[in-house]
Amino acid sequence: MSHAARYSEVYNRSISDPSGFWADEAQSIDWIKPPQTVFDPSLGVYGRWFPDGMVNTCYNAVDRHAEAHPDRTAIIHDSPITGTKRKITYSEFRDEVATLAAVLQDFGVKKGDRVIVYMPMIPEALFAMLACARIGAVHSVVFGGFAARELATRLDDCEPKLILAASCGIEPGRVVHYKPLIDEAIEIAHHKPESVIVFQRPQETAQLKAGRDFEWQTLVGEAKSKNRQAACVPVASTDPLYILYTSGTTGKPKGVVRDNGGHLVAMSWSMKGIYGIGPGDVFWSASDIGWVVGHSYIVYAPLIVGATTVVYEGKPVGTPDAGAFWRVISEHGAKALFTAPTAFRAIRKEDPEAVELQKYNLKGFRALFLAGERADPDTVKWAEEKLGTPVIDHWWQTETGWAIAGNPFGMGMLPVKHGSPTVAMPGYDVRILDEGGHPVPAGKMGSIVVKLPMPPSCLPTLWNAEDRFRESYLTTYPGYYSTSDAGYIDEDGYLYIMGRTDDIINVAGHRLSTGAMEEVLSGHPAVAECAVIGAKDALKGEQPCGFVVLKSGITTPPEQVEKELVARVRDQIGPVAAFKLAMVVKRLPKTRSGKILRGTMKKIADSDSFNMPATIDDPAVLDEIKVALQGKGLAK
Ligand code: COA
Ligand code: AMP
Repeated sequence: MSHAARYSEVYNRSISDPSGFWADEAQSIDWIKPPQTVFDPSLGVYGRWFPDGMVNTCYNAVDRHAEAHPDRTAIIHDSPITGTKRKITYSEFRDEVATLAAVLQDFGVKKGDRVIVYMPMIPEALFAMLACARIGAVHSVVFGGFAARELATRLDDCEPKLILAASCGIEPGRVVHYKPLIDEAIEIAHHKPESVIVFQRPQETAQLKAGRDFEWQTLVGEAKSKNRQAACVPVASTDPLYILYTSGTTGKPKGVVRDNGGHLVAMSWSMKGIYGIGPGDVFWSASDIGWVVGHSYIVYAPLIVGATTVVYEGKPVGTPDAGAFWRVISEHGAKALFTAPTAFRAIRKEDPEAVELQKYNLKGFRALFLAGERADPDTVKWAEEKLGTPVIDHWWQTETGWAIAGNPFGMGMLPVKHGSPTVAMPGYDVRILDEGGHPVPAGKMGSIVVKLPMPPSCLPTLWNAEDRFRESYLTTYPGYYSTSDAGYIDEDGYLYIMGRTDDIINVAGHRLSTGAMEEVLSGHPAVAECAVIGAKDALKGEQPCGFVVLKSGITTPPEQVEKELVARVRDQIGPVAAFKLAMVVKRLPKTRSGKILRGTMKKIADSDSFNMPATIDDPAVLDEIKVALQGKGLAK
């Protein structure tokens, strides 16, 4: 059977007989009580998967492999930034996780309690996530590049019982002091977690506050000396496994909820069907556990199938050079790598001829997977040529937890069309609708939606925000999940993602809200109004670019205000916002009804051609914007 025929058969079955399809895949999971019902449309907002099943995610990701293959490597930690490497077997992993879980229980953490994990790319971060899963606690990992205020927002939203943290993260040339950020966040937040357990890294010893803060190593050491380990706690398939906050259209992030059963099943399918990874294979996802890619493909999916996951603490370039990725692949025998296109753009920029690649033997390497942002054809072609392996773009979101569209490499690869993440994955009935909600013909742009129900692993709701869930995703096109991406499907069923329909931008594969940045800028006492756009950037895909109009009577020099605005975004959202461009302008371009013309400003910044908006109030403002941008090296 051809790959195309096989894909069609599998995909069509997933749409015509979803219960049969996912019931088969559910066999790969060890259930405590196997589900009798595969999908119940009457539960939750749009139905729930495996609602009467009981399961434990940690058991499936750790214990069952520790029992069957205790000496198999579960985690390879490779940290060029600290010059350390460490391998952990499944049996060691189970002991670490079970011990930490017992410590959490000592602190009164029970099924359903939330725990914030604020940790860098070290194995202990995985112990933390799995220890929560083991006892049915709900983890919420916060990326280390966010500022204290962002952490505080999450504290207030998910109200964790405690925080599991490390003393620091390490970025090239600087130590990221986590503890002061945590202290400040707790200070700002209304909800105060009872305790903070801090893993003290050799690079920095955090100050602990008596009565509230505890040293991880001491607690775990004591628990180990008493042989204390927590058992896996049975949870309902529909109980939450984690909450992961992602940018929404306002400053308040959305708490995407992931359940246990559906997630296990979808992770398992994707590992085989998309990535072609099975037990004992080495899989490397060069992302961060703070993002969904890290949750799904550094932590859960490779472990659920009993593979070995590489936890990399470094960058694609500079740690120490542009050969870092090739070294890790060859040294650990990685069969596949998953990363964001920006990482490859960075490598290519530094080593266009891939001279570094010649130093390494990548013989076991099968495929490169890219996601998180648009994979520009130039970068894809470069990677294909240099690696000599398939390079596979796939498209998904924090909300889904796994690919909506991809090329099913594990099942049999379909021909690649550069610029397209290929075709819909099983369970996703992807459609393109016009503004009125009508299907558009092949090749025509529209809003990309998924016909309900969503397949397993996709968010059943937003944490404590069911109305926001309906409003954000389900009300624009009744009966469909709205992805907020625009694009088209060609005559062969290949999907093309052309951009967001909301104010989200994508900077180095990081999803950021321009609305949130505008909130920060307008909080500056000198600012009357502002607009933030994502301007094209050759390395990071997009870079945020802020325009502000000052209040009348402000005498502070514009350059001073611009500096303060850059510092303000770094301080209130975090370095990850990569906000470096602020410019004071006399006025913003608006329609006669007062709507800011952000789309036109972006076109000017990107040096793209545009039609003069018919409703513009004063076209002369556009020239002022262009001059301001040219002053910053943009807009040819
Ligand atoms: N903790 C603290 N700060 C962090 C951080 C973390 N975990 N991760 C990034 N930052 C900081 C960076 O140090 C940088 O700070 P700076 O302004 O002081 O230089 C800032 O946040 C912006 O980070 P980023 O946009 O990621 O750029 P970078 O300078 O770290 O380099 C590239 C990133 C260009 C090398 C890029 O190719 C890359 O690899 N990006 C990450 C891709 C990724 O993992 N995406 C996740 C989705 S799959
Ligand atoms: P996140 O939730 O952080 O994973 O970001 C999801 C968003 O990133 C999507 O809605 C897209 O806008 C964008 N995105 C992710 N993967 C791709 C891709 N392969 N091609 C184009 N855009 C992508």
